[in-house]
Amino acid sequence: MSERQSAETQIKVIPFTEQIIAGRFADKTVIVTGAASGIGRATALRIAKEGGRVIASDISSDRLQVLVADNPQLNLVPVVGSISVQEDVDEIVEVADANDDLYGLVNNAGIMDNFQTISEVSDDVWERVFGVNVWGTMRMTRATIPYLLEKRQGAIVNLSSAAGLGGGAAGVAYTASKHAVIGMTKNTAIMYGPDGIRCNAVAPGGVITNIGGQMLSARAQERIGAAMLVTSPGVATPEALAATITWLLSPDAGNVNGAVVSSDGGWKAF
Ligand SMILES: NC(=O)c1ccc[n+]([C@@H]2O[C@H](COP(=O)([O-])OP(=O)(O)OC[C@H]3O[C@@H](n4cnc5c(N)ncnc54)[C@H](O)[C@@H]3O)[C@@H](O)[C@H]2O)c1
Repeated sequence: MSERQSAETQIKVIPFTEQIIAGRFADKTVIVTGAASGIGRATALRIAKEGGRVIASDISSDRLQVLVADNPQLNLVPVVGSISVQEDVDEIVEVADANDDLYGLVNNAGIMDNFQTISEVSDDVWERVFGVNVWGTMRMTRATIPYLLEKRQGAIVNLSSAAGLGGGAAGVAYTASKHAVIGMTKNTAIMYGPDGIRCNAVAPGGVITNIGGQMLSARAQERIGAAMLVTSPGVATPEALAATITWLLSPDAGNVNGAVVSSDGGWKAF
């Protein structure tokens, strides 16, 4: 949900205060995709403030430059590229392990659909949404795992959504893509847990970011538009999501693998 939409509809912002844990990611490199905006930006900053080296990857060169220029004291390494393109993915991971200390991956980059239903969705929207949310997450994880296997430790956090847990939060393309992310998360957790690699997912509710997502479907508006407003506890700040993501990345979550953690102010408990 964009800040403009939030202001227009007067949706409540759920209060959150960030509490930095000094040194939590010292000597660790973490890749954050989609690091130039929203949840990815807040996550990259949180890891870097806690001593980590962050490979801040995004398709937007301009926004990445702003992120780095605004935070010269932090160890942020910008890498421009699309997670949907294999060559870009390979470059991101190679830069990340240059010091042989790659520890984590946050598969955050994602795009929304337009709330279109199965009878309305175009091939183009389906391919674009799956190209980033599913193919991108798969490609980044596939490229990263060999580096983590060498060290026999690491943590991966995938961004799913409330739309990955139910059918009433987005259109069919986004909903299916975020369900797929949960499947990838659980399979990866089972396959690589014995090698010291954990893989978990976070399911945010509404968050104040630039993701957009116009309601283009009259059917979706009727079926879920009003219901979402009634049941939603409000929207979270990106920093609130960064706190959940970094906890899952950190050794404190060492016993958590294959989990889907809702970070939605209780929305999905409704
Ligand atoms: N904002 C929400 O309400 C919400 C709710 C549930 C889940 N999520 C998920 O959280 C994640 C982050 O979303 P956000 O709300 O911060 O969005 P955002 O649009 O603010 O940021 C996403 C970033 O990803 C980048 N990006 C897009 N396509 C890319 C690609 N192919 N390669 C590399 N980077 C790319 C964009 O340039 C942008 O900087 C997404 O996976 C999204 O589905 C968001």
